[in-house]
Amino acid sequence: MQLLLAPMEGLLDFALRDTLTRVEAGQGAGAAGGGAAHVHPSGIDRCVSEFIRITDTLLPARAFIRTMPELRTGGRTLTGVPVRGQLLGSDPTLLAENASRLAELGSHGVDLNFGCPAKVVNRHGGGSALLDDPELIHRIVSAVRRAVPAAVPVSAKMRLGFNDDHRAEDCALAIEAGGASEIVVHARTKAHGYRPPAYWERIADLRAEVKLPLVANGEIWTVDDARRAQAASGCSSLMLGRGMVADPGLALAIRAALPEPAAPIPVEPICERNSPSALVGYGLSATQPAAIEGRAGSATAFTGQLGTHLPPHLPWAHIHPLLGSFWALVGQRVERRHRAGRLKQWLNLLRRRYPEAQVAFDELRTTNDADDLGAWLLRGRG
Ligand SMILES: Cc1cc2nc3c(=O)[nH]c(=O)nc-3n(C[C@H](O)[C@H](O)[C@H](O)COP(=O)(O)O)c2cc1C
Repeated sequence: MQLLLAPMEGLLDFALRDTLTRVEAGQGAGAAGGGAAHVHPSGIDRCVSEFIRITDTLLPARAFIRTMPELRTGGRTLTGVPVRGQLLGSDPTLLAENASRLAELGSHGVDLNFGCPAKVVNRHGGGSALLDDPELIHRIVSAVRRAVPAAVPVSAKMRLGFNDDHRAEDCALAIEAGGASEIVVHARTKAHGYRPPAYWERIADLRAEVKLPLVANGEIWTVDDARRAQAASGCSSLMLGRGMVADPGLALAIRAALPEPAAPIPVEPICERNSPSALVGYGLSATQPAAIEGRAGSATAFTGQLGTHLPPHLPWAHIHPLLGSFWALVGQRVERRHRAGRLKQWLNLLRRRYPEAQVAFDELRTTNDADDLGAWLLRGRG
């Protein structure tokens, strides 16, 4: 089982990648978390950077390093988790040139974004818009694969489709034929936005068509979600996004509760592909703001249901120091006027699990001054 940390533009940046990969078993997340020697103490095997948008030029090294400062430290987080840079664009030649540079800079592979729902990106034919054009997807993956050394993995992250999922198999096959070595499937269409549920059972359909390792993604907030995602998709490997930001002990808890399966999980049909249950919500327009991922207009646009109050896997006493180290990194890397927003975004997700984060969020809601937030952290009121 591989557990990957999702790319999340504007949220899961260098500072939060660093922070979430500092979590360790023994901090309350479950002793089995650190069991296998090859598993990183945080339970995370690999991170993916936020997307680096490729429009019309070969980017200079500093542009890659801005999004992925880990390139300065061997392509790894400070605690040693490999990070794979993600590219977003629609021009095969330009993507290939930039992928080559990214690989030279030391990225642990190149990931290609075929899922971004942002209007501005889709208007230019990138992100999830490519899911209507499997032939172009194939050309992009092939060009990138040819451009980077054989030892550098090329992977892709896709949604199930743009308006509907009828070309999901074609897209997965195009990615495989292009020479990628892994596909992460965010089990929703662009039209679904971030509206639950995630259609994990559709990943099982893709597994029946392609031989590549697939990784299931979407709506994994709890150990039970992870178990159900594995069963429905047939994938043992999972990518965790908002669930890990809301509950930083989630990866370790999943490892503790779901030991490595001895053999690939057999796929059991959950429902017929075209049954009403599989199609619930398909074709509906997104209710989420169509702002660029990570710059969504409202604080709750992608936080999911609040108020579930499931117990977190780490006590708040362990989260507070993480907030401190996160804040220190934000102070080094983020423009002053955006710093308060970064902390509030994380608190916004943490409050799904932690009443203390809810209190902090309410207290800090109207504060935009970095000094005030720093003072609040120092007072230890988190
Ligand atoms: C704020 C935000 C930013 C995101 N940015 C990216 C991105 O840069 N690249 C990408 O492939 N997916 C991006 N995604 C999608 C996530 O990687 C993931 O597929 C999605 O959140 C579903 O997983 P989750 O339910 O575990 O959060 C983003 C999602 C959110 C909410």
